[in-house]
Order: sequence, then structure tokens, then C-alpha cells
Amino acid sequence: MTLVERRVAQEPLLRIEGLKTYYPIKRGLLSRTVGNVKAVDDISLELYPGETLGLVGESGCGKSTIGRSIIRLENPTDGRIWFEGQEITKSTMLDLRRERTKMQMIFQDPYSSLNPRMRVQELLAEPMRVHGLATGAELETRIDHLLDTVGIPRSYKQRFPHEFSGGQRQRIGIARALSLNPKLIVCDEPVSALDVSIQAQILNLFKELQRELGLTYLFIAHGLGAVKYISTRIAVMYLGKVVEIGTKEQIFANPRHPYTQALLNAYPVPDPRKRGQERIVLQGDVPSPASPPSGCRFHTRCAYAQAMCKEQEPLLQGEEHAVACHYPLTAG
Ligand SMILES: Nc1ncnc2c1ncn2[C@@H]1O[C@H](COP(=O)(O)OP(=O)(O)OP(=O)(O)O)[C@@H](O)[C@H]1O
Ligand code: SF4
Ligand SMILES: [Mg+2]
Repeated sequence: MTLVERRVAQEPLLRIEGLKTYYPIKRGLLSRTVGNVKAVDDISLELYPGETLGLVGESGCGKSTIGRSIIRLENPTDGRIWFEGQEITKSTMLDLRRERTKMQMIFQDPYSSLNPRMRVQELLAEPMRVHGLATGAELETRIDHLLDTVGIPRSYKQRFPHEFSGGQRQRIGIARALSLNPKLIVCDEPVSALDVSIQAQILNLFKELQRELGLTYLFIAHGLGAVKYISTRIAVMYLGKVVEIGTKEQIFANPRHPYTQALLNAYPVPDPRKRGQERIVLQGDVPSPASPPSGCRFHTRCAYAQAMCKEQEPLLQGEEHAVACHYPLTAG
């Protein structure tokens, strides 16, 4: 189904409109606000049930901030968020508690998100107990079932997080996120810290879980490598903005934004005959999101920049495949 058909047939699970999340920069004895880090600056997205939207971009472009704003670990500065058709932007604490069970986040380093003093059994029981989902024998059964689901032997229940490998710890992090039967999981670089051989296993687990449980993922990664395998659609971010969004095929076969093309070129080309054909590789540092460049934020690093790029901000235009560039690239 194309995105346009989906919009007609289905309600998005999550919709964000004009989302802005700024972090104030404070200075001086009175810690006055002297500016803002515009981590997320006017982003609109939709996520449909059962899909995986990959979110990619260099360090500091605002990927985690989007994830954290969606599940309200950060308070958005502006914009609106709907989940299952209900606006949750102005939810009360009580509503948020309920909604949070349906939206979970998985982090890059499960070690820092798992309490090192808790045994696996307790780590999995805690969220279910807090939300009154299960007690007694039912709770035990659910813990066993969760461990089976993520491929951790039941006999390891009494172990502590440090007794596991990185991949196993991430499996426990996933089990904990699943314990509340979420619909949406924000996966914030969940495999970046793992060995390459383990990465594939965890990505496969994500895929299996999606098939079995109908989960929807927002899958955050630095580069296009990991998201290529897991995503149905991909959004490319640069300095707080989405610069291109499309299906995985569109992004890989026909990247229209110079930044997307540069990200693609940053990956090693497996075919040796094609090596050396890379046209542009990213140069220079990412400018500060506290004072982003005028016009197109990418103009300071873009190989195709023209005079207009400095002056006018390009808007994200297009339906299924949208791009924010005055001079988008064409295939071929
Ligand atoms: N709590 C905070 N207070 C102030 N600035 C912050 C805070 N969290 C993030 N930032 C800034 O906001 C910008 C976006 O950060 P964010 O962590 O969302 O980026 P990211 O794309 O996830 O980067 P990475 O790939 O390194 O994880 C960065 O400039 C960062 O320094
Ligand atoms: S708008 Fe101009 S500077 Fe920005 S990406 Fe397009 S060509 Fe490059
Ligand atoms: Mg991040």
C-alpha cells in the first residue's frame, strides 16, 4: 500500500505536527536564558500501525530528542502529537501514565537503563506491578513468557544485568519494554553499541517481534546501514529538520537531497567495481543547532548550493517521497 492509500484506509498510530523541542541556553549568575538549542525544529511525521520508520542523521541532529519528546521524557516547546487519534500534547500526568504503557523506549546502552542492583525477574516484574498489570502466579507466568519471547533462558531469572553479555542485556531491555504490551517502541540506536555479529541477531529479533505482535517502531540510527535492513520508510534529519522522507527503496535508489546522497556515500560500497564512483562525501562539522545557518541549513556543506540556498528555507515537499531542497537531485 502506498502512503497515500494508507492515509485513506488507516488512521496513523502516531502523528506529530510542527514539533519543536528547544533546550534553553542559560548564562551568568542569574542563569538567564540567552538562546535556545533548536534540537527539533518544526517536524511533522506520521507512523502507521505495523511499520518501521527509520530516523537517521549525524550526531546532534535531534533524533533522540524527537523520540524523547514523543514519549514525553522531554516537554515539547511547540507542536502537537496524536496517538491512536487522541491528542496527547496536553495530557495530564494521569493520562500520560496510561499512554506511556503503550509507548516504550529502548536505549543504546541497556546497562544504563537497567538497574544494576535488580535481578532480571525483578526488572521485568517492576513495570507490570507498577501499572497493576499482573500479580502472583500470573506475574511469574508473564515473566517466563517474556524471557522465552526474547530468547533468554528462564533459568537466568535470578541473575543481575552485569552477568550478561551486551546482546543479552539488550534482549532483557526489550523484554522489559514489552512487558506492558506497547504498540509503539522508540528504538534509540539499540544495536549501535553491539558487535556486528550480535547486531544482526537483535535486528532479527525486532523483526520477529513486529511480525508476531504487530508492533510499530521508530528506529533511530546514525547512518543508513542498520535502518536499511529494518525500515519500511526512512526519514533523514539534518540540524533539527527532516530533509527527506520516503520508502526505503526511494531513499536508497533515488536519494533526492544532497545530504541523503552524502550519507549514502559515507558507507563503503560492497561492489569493488563501483568504488571510487562516490561523488560527494560530507566535509566539515555540523553547525551549531543554537544558531543554524540561514536559508537551507545544509548550505554550508552542500556541494550543490546556489545563492538562493542561503536566503530561502526550502520546505519539505512531496507526498510519499518528500524532499526539502531548492535543487533536488534526480536519479541517474
Ligand atoms: N538535555 C539537554 N540540554 C541541552 N541540550 C541538549 C539536551 N539534550 C540534547 N541537547 C542538544 O540537542 C541537540 C540534539 O541532541 P540529540 O541528543 O537529540 O541528538 P541525536 O541526533 O540523538 O545525537 P546522537 O546521534 O549523538 O545521539 C544537540 O545539540 C544536543 O547537544
Ligand atoms: S537547498 Fe541548496 S544548499 Fe540546501 S541541500 Fe538543496 S542545493 Fe544544497
Ligand atoms: Mg541520540
